[in-house]
Amino acid sequence: MSETPAGTPGTTAGPSGDALENLLAEGRRFPPSPEFAAQANAGPDLYADAAADRLGFWAARARELTWETPFTEVLDWSGAPRARWFADGRLNAAYNAVDRHVEAGLGDRVAIHWEGEPGDTRTLTYADLQREVSRAANALEALGVRTGDRVAIYLPLIPEAIVAMLACARIGAPHSVVFGGFSAEALHTRILDAEASLVITADGGYRRGAPSALKPAVDEALAHGDTPVRHVLVVRRTAQDVDWTPGRDVWWHEAVDGAADVHAPVAVEAEHPLFILYTSGTTGKPKGIFHTTGGYLTQAAYTHSVVFDLKPDTDVYWCTADVGWVTGHTYVAYGPLLNGATQVLYEGTPDTPHKGRWWELVQKYGVTILYTAPTAIRTFMKWGEDVPARFDLSSLRVLGSVGEPINPEAWIWYRRVIGGDRTPVVDTWWQTETGGIMISPLPGVTRAKPGSAQVPLPGVSAEVVNEAGEPVGNGRGGYLVLTEPWPGMLRGIWGDERRFADTYWSRFPGFYFAGDGAKKDDDGDVWLLGRVDDVMNVSGHRLSTTEIESALVSHPWVAEAAVVGASDETTGQAVVAFVILRADAVERADEPGEGSDVVASLRAHVVHEIGPIAKPRSILIVPELPKTRSGKIMRRLLRDVAEHRTVGDVTTLADTSVMDMISAGLHGSAAAPA
Ligand code: WT7
Repeated sequence: MSETPAGTPGTTAGPSGDALENLLAEGRRFPPSPEFAAQANAGPDLYADAAADRLGFWAARARELTWETPFTEVLDWSGAPRARWFADGRLNAAYNAVDRHVEAGLGDRVAIHWEGEPGDTRTLTYADLQREVSRAANALEALGVRTGDRVAIYLPLIPEAIVAMLACARIGAPHSVVFGGFSAEALHTRILDAEASLVITADGGYRRGAPSALKPAVDEALAHGDTPVRHVLVVRRTAQDVDWTPGRDVWWHEAVDGAADVHAPVAVEAEHPLFILYTSGTTGKPKGIFHTTGGYLTQAAYTHSVVFDLKPDTDVYWCTADVGWVTGHTYVAYGPLLNGATQVLYEGTPDTPHKGRWWELVQKYGVTILYTAPTAIRTFMKWGEDVPARFDLSSLRVLGSVGEPINPEAWIWYRRVIGGDRTPVVDTWWQTETGGIMISPLPGVTRAKPGSAQVPLPGVSAEVVNEAGEPVGNGRGGYLVLTEPWPGMLRGIWGDERRFADTYWSRFPGFYFAGDGAKKDDDGDVWLLGRVDDVMNVSGHRLSTTEIESALVSHPWVAEAAVVGASDETTGQAVVAFVILRADAVERADEPGEGSDVVASLRAHVVHEIGPIAKPRSILIVPELPKTRSGKIMRRLLRDVAEHRTVGDVTTLADTSVMDMISAGLHGSAAAPA
């Protein structure tokens, strides 16, 4: 179990003490302009509607989708915590995202303006998408994929990623997208856990101006020989040489391009799994969060429409997330398409080939709604205002933020420099598990407070509670919980019912425990304060301390390891590892010039086991780790060291001299931060 935060919950990872006071002291308020409020999709009455009849409210949102068989029952909570929403209805996700718009005469509307990193482009209308998805669905069926089979998707951010997801959804085969930045080992674990029978990948993608390979990682993952994978479908993107396994490997262009462009979508039960997405938890093993069809799509379409105030016929929407994360599922693949939006999709990094690339794209496509992460905003702040100033950003009318708390300074910069001091900014709190946005201002209603996600959306019930599960009241801090089921809620952890109940539903019986600390201010607005468990947030991506520790101890030189998330100006948190070496490795580390070698080797090992996103910023070789008498590592003290603070209270340590030893060892250690 995680280290229980002593005293004030919510201060383990998030801002503490003075930092928190400064955050809450930000007094500026940004009410919506009367013009914006007058045209907004959602007005104040939405809160009243939802409060008056919560289930009726959600049923009405669900009926905005197209059902093959309408549902008669809204929520069955008798099997709590496993919810069943709209359970006797049947529908198809791809039909709702694509076909119904074509049938409504919108086939010529652009669904996706895609821009490759090297500058190549593709435009897909809804009619194009319907043909592409149908071809791909036919190809998947020809490769033996059936309703209910799992398909792993390991692709760069190219249109085929979305086509592949929708093709799976079209035949009712749950997809499991694995972010292209994860290693072969991480991919292997996920394929195995989901028992995927097909992998869809590419030869590679473009990153920072150069092709980067993907297929070798799939080959390496499958070389274990223990997965049920029968075929690997390979998109040609970079034309790199690839190793080929005849009989197993199939080119996308050979299987898909020639397939029939008509396909009858398979209507599935509302509770049929739509996808599995792995995310880090507090143990070493990632959790396969799974979402089902009807409830998830309801939450995706509704939140995307009201939070971003989407006008499908005039807006150009751009969410910068990769489809490897939940943001890319709900707010790239599903939400915008369900709502018939036109969106931008960009393959590459913000600084390739120049630091104004994003703003160039905003200008080029006339982007009106931009949704990104605080870490990106802070990076742009560092690069300077003159970069965005070179482009015309006047099309923008709503800005969104997601992934981690946004500091008021970044919020205000975002609104002023990117939004021309004119656009609402919505700070959206949610999680892989919640499926869609839960806490956020509504841009036409809420008087925005920089730094606070503020209020649960209409239909959502959230609270901040103390250790005993009682609401803390305004002005107090505690734990964020969700007190009523919602349609987009996870239905479980794939293959691990028990862990689902333990992780989310046992700490505060009857409530969903989000794992975040939060504070309610005097107005009752919610401020998110970071994780209270052993989960880190690096650049808006979730990483598990335990998972990285397991990776480190699987290295032959490592005896013990402890990992903490230390605050970082740009990435929010950064990975800092404390490692005790085995005796034979210590000798190595002591040799002149060898110490940094040890650190480099450990760092490379983490990249191999998990992926570049988990690479530690620093690895500190230490003689001991601080442990309580029951043997639990006190990460709080290590965080003090990593953040260069005076080490806190050590009285509960089994050996109170350990922290002195660590501090002494760090000065003059051969293996200081690299
Ligand atoms: C964790 C969920 C939601 C999609 C991206 C991350 C943190 C997320 C906010 C926000 C403060 C936030 C929380 C949460 N988080 N959005 N607006 N303000 N914190 O999804 O990987 O499942 O991570 O991200 O700590 O628990 P995820």
